[in-house]
Amino acid sequence: MSQITIALTKGRIEEETVELLSRAGFDLAFMADKGRNLIFESPDGRFRFLLVKGPDVTTYVRHGVADVGIVGKDILFEHPTGYLEMLDLNFGLCKFSLASVPSYDPQDHKRKRIATKYPTVAMDYFNQKGEDVEIISIQGSVEISPVLGLADAIVDIVETGHTLSANGLIVFEDICRVSARLIVNQASLKNNPDLMPFIAKIESLVGTREVAFE
Ligand code: PRP
Repeated sequence: MSQITIALTKGRIEEETVELLSRAGFDLAFMADKGRNLIFESPDGRFRFLLVKGPDVTTYVRHGVADVGIVGKDILFEHPTGYLEMLDLNFGLCKFSLASVPSYDPQDHKRKRIATKYPTVAMDYFNQKGEDVEIISIQGSVEISPVLGLADAIVDIVETGHTLSANGLIVFEDICRVSARLIVNQASLKNNPDLMPFIAKIESLVGTREVAFE
């Protein structure tokens, strides 16, 4: 038996993954009392979990430290290389949207300033429209930037829409759907015989395979 190391995005994705794996018949009781620990090994040695930030999930998988990663598609848009995207897990659902204050005019021909935590997504969106914009990269609380005049509009994740409405913003266009994805290290897929059956088991519960073998 080979061990499978799984890099999990801390927070909601982590919780939903544990629930999913439990439904798949894996005993994850050892994850219940985790305190502030960030690495967990199952008593039978079959799994090891690393709890990390979303962008770092792709880094651990890219470097082969983790065989598998569970991470939002929003992160994958910004960190697109070094792994295979295998499954759409159909949880962690939200969307990318263009939003701003109600007075924002998307048809305005001036060069717009767009604040975002997702510069690649924002740039792709405006490139597809053939519109040249200035991207202002910020780290969080993006919703306040049009209110304070830092930006004309934002490209951001919308889940419930509460943060937008609490800050007086509205959606002007939905850009794309976002959900949690299962990614794998390509060498692990070749070398770890337990990996494909593990992925197939999860796929049978939730997923649609994203990428065929290359
Ligand atoms: C995300 C996102 C929005 C908010 C959307 O931010 O960037 O701000 O959640 O959620 P809602 O539609 O349910 O209100 P996050 O919570 O990660 O905080 P941050 O802005 O500090 O990055």
